[in-house]
Amino acid sequence: MDVRNGRILVTGGAGFIGSHLVDRLLRLGNEVVVFDDYTSGSPAQLDHLGARADLHLIEGDIRDQASLDKAMRGVRHVYHLATRNVRLSLVQPTLVHEVNTTGTLNVLKAAASAGVRRLLYCSSSEVNGTADIVPMPEDYPYRPETIYGASKLAGEYYAQVFHRSGWLPTVTARPHNNYGPREHFAGQKGEVIPRFVLWALTGQPLRIYGSGEQTRDFTFVEETVDYLVRLMGCDEALGEVVNVCRGQEVSIFELAQHIRELTGRKSEIVRLPGRPSDVLRLFGDPTRLTRLVGSAPSISIEEGLSRTIEWFRSHVPLTRDVLASLEMNTWNHHAPEPWMDRTHKRAG
Ligand SMILES: NC(=O)c1ccc[n+]([C@@H]2O[C@H](COP(=O)([O-])OP(=O)(O)OC[C@H]3O[C@@H](n4cnc5c(N)ncnc54)[C@H](O)[C@@H]3O)[C@@H](O)[C@H]2O)c1
Repeated sequence: MDVRNGRILVTGGAGFIGSHLVDRLLRLGNEVVVFDDYTSGSPAQLDHLGARADLHLIEGDIRDQASLDKAMRGVRHVYHLATRNVRLSLVQPTLVHEVNTTGTLNVLKAAASAGVRRLLYCSSSEVNGTADIVPMPEDYPYRPETIYGASKLAGEYYAQVFHRSGWLPTVTARPHNNYGPREHFAGQKGEVIPRFVLWALTGQPLRIYGSGEQTRDFTFVEETVDYLVRLMGCDEALGEVVNVCRGQEVSIFELAQHIRELTGRKSEIVRLPGRPSDVLRLFGDPTRLTRLVGSAPSISIEEGLSRTIEWFRSHVPLTRDVLASLEMNTWNHHAPEPWMDRTHKRAG
């Protein structure tokens, strides 16, 4: 099925990966509807596109069925990316459950009843938890470490049930860790690569939570969106879960070293106490992706990091505010739900 010249709705289209996907879908001649509540995303992520007739921004919450139903009219394809993130789920699991799980059910219902032809659900490698066999294929036993990972897994199952029931053709992509231009760096949303880049560019220490031996399978975001487009167009991927990854593990310590080298700075690398529920080893198997679409992401970490560093150099001013936003701890910006506090007290 061709992903060109249609009307496509992207939930979470004002986020990091979503904004790159919107760029690509517009280049393919589509009319794009972005449905986003701007909690971690922002219309500013799409500013570079300017005002144009083929891009429609709807500020809406996927917990609101009526807004979704309305936005879905005339839509041919849906990419469902809207999510609340892993770190928020450490302190606000109920909110993350409501958005990621109930919200996903709402998106599926709205798409099915609007007669959408195909929906791609964007899951996450966090459904797996720490790997003890690598690389992890799609049917690796699920042991999510967080409510985020578990909620993304529930979304996968819902997408599959809609497919098997004949309510809506779906495909599930399971990206591993993404990085690149426009990745979040500030506050609770801040991700490891942009924080390291900004610290390195200002000669500050690169701060690692835990040993730094944790590994991830990093994909350059522009490649990920390539594969999200190809998977939407691939009939054999219907009803399947497909890893979108390079199949190469990089430790957080190696990442810090690469960034220090590529920026030409001498920042110290320091270790801080680890983050709760951190996955220690994640490393995906892209065999199924290769079988389905003929290849898998291949941009090396060095090349992707160089492009990312260039983007941050030219787009993010190194002001005091920017530096202050790289706060040390990215998971305790919200008060934990009251029951969690009681649980912590009992554990102590
Ligand atoms: N970034 C990664 O490394 C990575 C890795 C694996 C999977 N993913 C998946 O990719 C997708 C996009 O992630 P991202 O990194 O771009 O995150 P992001 O936080 O930048 O994007 C999520 C978007 O969803 C929006 N959103 C949140 N709650 C919403 C709600 N209730 N209603 C409507 N919109 C809402 C946010 O405002 C944001 O624009 C997610 O589904 C995520 O699980 C990301």
